Amino acid sequence: MNERRLDDLPGCERCELSLTRTRVVLGSGPKGATLLVVGEAPGRHEDLGGEPFIGRSGRLLRGLILDEWGLHDGEYLITNVVKCRPPNNRTPRSREIAACRPWLDLEALAWRPERVLAVGTVAARAVFGFNEPMTVVHGRVTPWGHGVGVATYHPAAALRGGPNVVAVMREDLRTLARWQP
Ligand code: URA
Repeated sequence: MNERRLDDLPGCERCELSLTRTRVVLGSGPKGATLLVVGEAPGRHEDLGGEPFIGRSGRLLRGLILDEWGLHDGEYLITNVVKCRPPNNRTPRSREIAACRPWLDLEALAWRPERVLAVGTVAARAVFGFNEPMTVVHGRVTPWGHGVGVATYHPAAALRGGPNVVAVMREDLRTLARWQP
């Protein structure tokens, strides 16, 4: 049922981002994977290529997941809070996040991951309801679905902020990896 409804996602017109996107960027990864990574919204590369996190910040994030979790591309689930690129990569608006919410909920129901990693403040708010800055909430193990999750910095922040931000992201990934059900 959930998967059938997810079949409607490529044609979604629930908000105005449908007018400017090239394509809806669907979540990807194998059903049954333990880890779900949730980002903010597709950028230019993702809008053209149709997959989450395939640009520069995605390379950084995917490298950290490989280092800290030993997981290669295709061995974990990855999606975004908002499935269509906002023009000029602006932050998604509240009404766009709200309009897209049912898709994230359907993905979570269909995939039932044990752990979720929310990257960036938009994902941290959408997934865990965190309203405080990332400096405060990152690395906090939080119940989610039938498992737990952690928020960390967005890899774009790490590209700007350098090795200190990357070090914090690594520690947050390790925190989530260490959690035992
Ligand atoms: N940034 C995101 O939050 N998601 C992507 O898919 C790409 C860049």
